[in-house]
Amino acid sequence: MRCMFLAIVLGVLSCSSEKTAVSNDAAAQTATTVPASPIERCINLGSALEAPNEGEWGYTIRAVDMQRIADAGFDTVRIPIKWSAHTENVPPYTIDRSFMARIDDVLTAALMADLQVIINVHHYDELNAKLTPHKERLYAMWDQIAYHYQDVGDRLIFEVLNEPHSKMTFEEVDTVNRRVLDRIRQVSPDRWVIYATGQWANPIGLYKSKPYLAPRTILSFHYYGPFEFTHQGATWTEKPYPIGVSWGTPEQYATIEKDFATVRAKMAPYGLPIFLGEFGAYDPAPAFERAKWTEHVRKTAEANGFSWCHWSYTSGFEVFSKKDQAWIPEMKDALITPFRR
Ligand code: BGC
Repeated sequence: MRCMFLAIVLGVLSCSSEKTAVSNDAAAQTATTVPASPIERCINLGSALEAPNEGEWGYTIRAVDMQRIADAGFDTVRIPIKWSAHTENVPPYTIDRSFMARIDDVLTAALMADLQVIINVHHYDELNAKLTPHKERLYAMWDQIAYHYQDVGDRLIFEVLNEPHSKMTFEEVDTVNRRVLDRIRQVSPDRWVIYATGQWANPIGLYKSKPYLAPRTILSFHYYGPFEFTHQGATWTEKPYPIGVSWGTPEQYATIEKDFATVRAKMAPYGLPIFLGEFGAYDPAPAFERAKWTEHVRKTAEANGFSWCHWSYTSGFEVFSKKDQAWIPEMKDALITPFRR
């Protein structure tokens, strides 16, 4: 019923971008033209539905956020979701209905604000630790998610899995991408799908992948370099990174340019759009340098033809101050060039 409602309300919001034929044959491996990505400027709504329960990490998504984000000039929100905390542990691995209803509401708010929405499977820690039975559980989750949203237009984008690592080797990531894509395609032949990337979505994960070439698929990587700058003061990293670390030498600017040029060059033969799905510096980093780093990463992504998604919106890695309930001007300007407003 709820899905029906979503279909009726949101189906009309479907956009029709050109389909591009890609195949896995040798010719495609040397493709030079890359289909246009549906995403341009995106922001992650982190710390909300990625927590075991929304609100536990200090942020609950509100409809007003969506309008504010759209008004600022972003076209897409990425919503990290910890489905694994709301899915049964035994077959048929049913997703909790009230949790799904909450996702419906968040999606509706975003689409009504004229934003595109990326939903993913985030923080599936058990899968990284143990493939059996968690690969099957992941497939069951995607069967349910794809079916539930099958009538929602293609402004809803799926992302297979966030930052796989450990037991999710490069080969496993390729297998899972292909299997999940096949399942989504059963009900949504036209939906854009972003592939997972191994080794925590590090560029190395891209280089080691053999992505299955299919229409409307997107490659993705995350960028937090240098980590000791972007994660200073973080409490969740393996080792602590002390605060007070600077960024901004000419060599550091050049490193980002070199890293992104390498991603572009190495992945060009696949002919798929590339999405920088996460980049950001944690709030304790010096404010001016944080904004400069953000602006340089964003501009370098654009210069290489990557769409991007800043991590995050509020409550840590802030662009919108939780305390002041206002945009942080230098951070917003680092992402959305003022003349665009
Ligand atoms: C994680 C977040 C974390 C961020 C920066 C994301 O992939 O899901 O929990 O805050 O990376 O470390």
